[in-house]
Amino acid sequence: MNAPDLQMATDIAGSARAGTLYGIGVGPGDVRYLTLRAAALVGSVDVVAFFAKKDHPGNARRIVDKLMAAGRAELRLEYPMTDESPADSAEYEQCIGAFYRQSADDIAALLRQGKSVGLLAEGDPFFYGSFMHMWRRLEGDFPIEVVPGVTGMSGCWTRANVPITWGDDTLAVLPGTLDEQQLVDRLRASDAAVIMKVGRHLGKVRRAVEAAGLLPRALYVERGTMDNERILPLADCAEPAGAYFAMVLIPGQGRRL
Ligand SMILES: C[S@@+](CC[C@H](N)C(=O)[O-])C[C@H]1O[C@@H](n2cnc3c(N)ncnc32)[C@H](O)[C@@H]1O
Repeated sequence: MNAPDLQMATDIAGSARAGTLYGIGVGPGDVRYLTLRAAALVGSVDVVAFFAKKDHPGNARRIVDKLMAAGRAELRLEYPMTDESPADSAEYEQCIGAFYRQSADDIAALLRQGKSVGLLAEGDPFFYGSFMHMWRRLEGDFPIEVVPGVTGMSGCWTRANVPITWGDDTLAVLPGTLDEQQLVDRLRASDAAVIMKVGRHLGKVRRAVEAAGLLPRALYVERGTMDNERILPLADCAEPAGAYFAMVLIPGQGRRL
């Protein structure tokens, strides 16, 4: 981009307002898939906030690494646990509930000081995003703007080079955490499917896809658009567990003209 074009892009994207929380969708992994608005806010908010697992840099934070100037103020919100206990256990609910309350309080304190805070969200903030737990706690008290992002699933089907829905195809988006029979039933009821949160559920997901008769069409995509991306037929994927950033795609076979 030459200088006037860059200026035009910056003018269109705008900047951050004081005392406002931004939920910034940073896309599926490749920094080039950020929207203009997301990139402008990453550069202009007073504080860049992000969730991270213990001992990890934080995936959303890693995506924007090249856009972060040295010395920017950051708020790292570190999960006290991730998958040590099942997500529906009382222990998990209590521990993560307390963590989200504390995180919302920390963000609220910055907003009350008049700071603008950009909370990074991998993919789209309103699609299975931790950002939503902050949004529901803070939206009554503070101005919030949500910046949509390219979802992980669009990044994955683009990189796998498979159009996902044709003609009148229906698409099911299923968490791999569902039990096996629920997965089979949902898969049988739709033309195309995306199975998210595959991770340690990979073996079960594979069995469900096979039972629904869809294994020949299914693809496994790990870290789509990221540096160490892996794409292969699910049928060739024998591991019992996959990466956290992994999904299964089952493209539809609807009307092609
Ligand atoms: C908590 S959800 C977050 C979804 C995110 N907000 C989005 O818009 O895609 C995390 C799950 O998204 C899926 N996912 C997101 N980005 C991905 C990517 N780049 N490659 C593979 N799977 C991805 C994985 O199934 C992962 O377990």
